[in-house]
Amino acid sequence: MTTHSPAVVIPQQGRRLAFIGKGGTGKSTIIAHMLKHWNDAGIPGSAMDADEPGDEENGSLIDWADEADLGGPVYPAPNRSKVRDQLVKYTPESGLLAVDTGAWNRKAGNMHFAVLAGVDLAVLTLPPTRMELNRAGSVLAAIDHLEEVGAHVPRLVICLTLTNASAKAADDTYKDLTGAGFTVLKTRVPRVDAQDGYGQSYGLEPKLIPGSPMDLLAAELAREASA
Ligand SMILES: Nc1ncnc2c1ncn2[C@@H]1O[C@H](COP(=O)(O)OP(=O)(O)OP(=O)(O)O)[C@@H](O)[C@H]1O
Ligand SMILES: [Mg+2]
Repeated sequence: MTTHSPAVVIPQQGRRLAFIGKGGTGKSTIIAHMLKHWNDAGIPGSAMDADEPGDEENGSLIDWADEADLGGPVYPAPNRSKVRDQLVKYTPESGLLAVDTGAWNRKAGNMHFAVLAGVDLAVLTLPPTRMELNRAGSVLAAIDHLEEVGAHVPRLVICLTLTNASAKAADDTYKDLTGAGFTVLKTRVPRVDAQDGYGQSYGLEPKLIPGSPMDLLAAELAREASA
């Protein structure tokens, strides 16, 4: 760890966090970077790719892990009926398991609910635009529904992703969401389309850049998951 990195909290017991959100909001890209940064910070990290089998498309985390060293193992989509057991089994002791989920659509599958029922923290990836806020409504409604039926509901935090250089949209969204009682992470993941940016990082070993958004996010999520 370098002196620039934020103080990192190593969880006392293993914790699980699920990334949920609409298609293309940055879930898999973030998880690949989190594994690398957690590993660098001395936090044992693993991931589970819980895209529904058959959902297999370009850009899966499991294929990324085949091509590059992500700093921790990525386990394949579990059998849906065994999700809970496998979530527990793959959680490192004193470490973090990040669960990647498939694009959330209006009829989110049972896999999404099984994952939510088995994690400590849900991280909703949300680009700060009005359209994305509307699209995310079905995710929030589903979580409300779980609460209503008395199911285990993980704590929800919102991560603003694909933000652009002008911070206004993200600042406004942050204000609206926190005003409505949601927890929004301090760290935002900017859209970076440059050749060495996040948008071009698929299949490559994530770069460790102290003080970068992914570095800060790794530390913030470790704290949130341990809280
Ligand atoms: N911070 C970023 N800046 C620019 N491009 C990004 C960023 N994060 C992700 N991308 C690009 O956006 C696309 C979607 O990213 P990613 O696959 O991580 O999203 P996802 O939420 O996992 O999508 P899906 O729900 O389809 O699995 C990819 O082409 C990826 O390279
Ligand atoms: Mg993905």
